[in-house]
Amino acid sequence: MSDSFVAVAACDTIPDGKFIKVRVAGRALVLAHVAGRYYAVEDQCSHEDYPLSFGCLDGDRIKCSLHGSRFSLETGAPLEEPADRPIRVFPVKVMDGWVWIDPST
Ligand code: FES
Repeated sequence: MSDSFVAVAACDTIPDGKFIKVRVAGRALVLAHVAGRYYAVEDQCSHEDYPLSFGCLDGDRIKCSLHGSRFSLETGAPLEEPADRPIRVFPVKVMDGWVWIDPST
């Protein structure tokens, strides 16, 4: 594993089906917990400069609240228009009861 991982939140602070906003290395990210897995994506829709943290989770997707595009939390791929570009996703690991993110990728 890369040495660039940063501990960002205790696992028990993010209920399953919820997300929190975190700031890591100057980046605003969404850290989501879905079905026992954690996902980190940039907190910015690829359609317009709008925070995805204003939206909601839909299973393993995050929905932008401005125009409704959904993105895969796994790959960042847009699943519905009007967004047609992926959002950035970041490697996540769980260790010692904490969620770690590598913001360097
Ligand atoms: S700003 Fe997110 S879909 Fe338009």
